[in-house]
Amino acid sequence: MTELAWGIVGTGSVSRAIAADLALTPGVRRLAVTSREEPRAREFADTFSIERAYGGVEELLADEDVDILYIGTPHATHSDIAVRALEAGRHVLVEKPAGVDSSDVRRIADAARASGRFAMEGMWMRFAPAYRAAIEDIRNGAIGSVTSVRASFGIPFGDPESASWTVQRRSSTLLDQGIYPVTLALDVLGVPESLCATAHVRSDGVDLAVHATLEYRDHRFAQLAASMTGWTELSAAVSGSAGWLTLSPPFWATDRYVLHSLAGGATDQESLFRPDPTVHPREGFGYVPMLRAVTEAIADGLKEHPLHPLQDSITIAEILDRIRACATSQPQLGLPT
Ligand SMILES: NC(=O)c1ccc[n+]([C@@H]2O[C@H](COP(=O)([O-])OP(=O)(O)OC[C@H]3O[C@@H](n4cnc5c(N)ncnc54)[C@H](OP(=O)(O)O)[C@@H]3O)[C@@H](O)[C@H]2O)c1
Repeated sequence: MTELAWGIVGTGSVSRAIAADLALTPGVRRLAVTSREEPRAREFADTFSIERAYGGVEELLADEDVDILYIGTPHATHSDIAVRALEAGRHVLVEKPAGVDSSDVRRIADAARASGRFAMEGMWMRFAPAYRAAIEDIRNGAIGSVTSVRASFGIPFGDPESASWTVQRRSSTLLDQGIYPVTLALDVLGVPESLCATAHVRSDGVDLAVHATLEYRDHRFAQLAASMTGWTELSAAVSGSAGWLTLSPPFWATDRYVLHSLAGGATDQESLFRPDPTVHPREGFGYVPMLRAVTEAIADGLKEHPLHPLQDSITIAEILDRIRACATSQPQLGLPT
């Protein structure tokens, strides 16, 4: 198999994890990295045994040996870099969220179509073996017909006044954490008929915490929460007419799920409380299954990956747009002074 030559954009925390997991992925050549400051790229290249280091995206794009760009920069920069890479004839794996809103994501999809190159948003959750097996079990009726979802991703990543979160970077818990519960809801319930949401939005417009209820026909619903300033429990649960399934924390990177089910004819409700766990160990930091899938898809000549096509990224971004619109139209509830 010819090796796919990867170029990494950005030397931050997720790029470090991806560089380490690329080393565990077959068919990969870790060719280049670029930073806004060349010495940072050089240090990164030395750490991860990457062959070439550059001081800007243009320099990376000028290297004709690079086949695919992994874009691990702030949200606000994703679509511009992705579109430039596609226009320069490179494949693209762009971090989640692919864009800051649905029109931003559509720009990437349009550029991908025009260039004929592969493009995908780095929604690694959908490639994790435990997540895939859980979704397959649910679709095969393991909990009957799905009635509700509960999922939350809240971790205190910093102080509410943190200066490292800025509107310029489009820092946002809805975009950063909320995208995972929304993707799970889409996977098992589809696009909501209606929704309502509230958020804790900082005076500069950065949303720090958000929770939403998504409503579907026949009284089905999803309750979702995200926060970057406080804990919300990190598992997810999908309930149905014959039981429920929990994705163990952290649900977006889980290595196991637990089925509590009466499907298959069991009548003893006690069996609901003798759960049936399924474990799929993580590979590396957990990005290897996605990196392998992208590498193989490109080798097979695919332009998108069937597990996370660009239309799904657009649909997810549209739901995030609707949540944002609802949450920002609500009054901000603070503590009484
Ligand atoms: N899939 C996942 O599990 C996962 C986990 C964490 C984050 N993410 C996503 O990955 C992206 C990056 O997150 P991160 O936590 O790695 O962020 P980070 O630590 O702040 O790193 C971002 C890097 O982007 C580069 N950069 C390029 N343009 C920049 C600009 N205008 N302002 C600031 N930095 C710029 C910087 O590298 P140089 O200084 O070298 O240019 C910086 O180190 C986000 O979109 C986030 O949603 C995904």
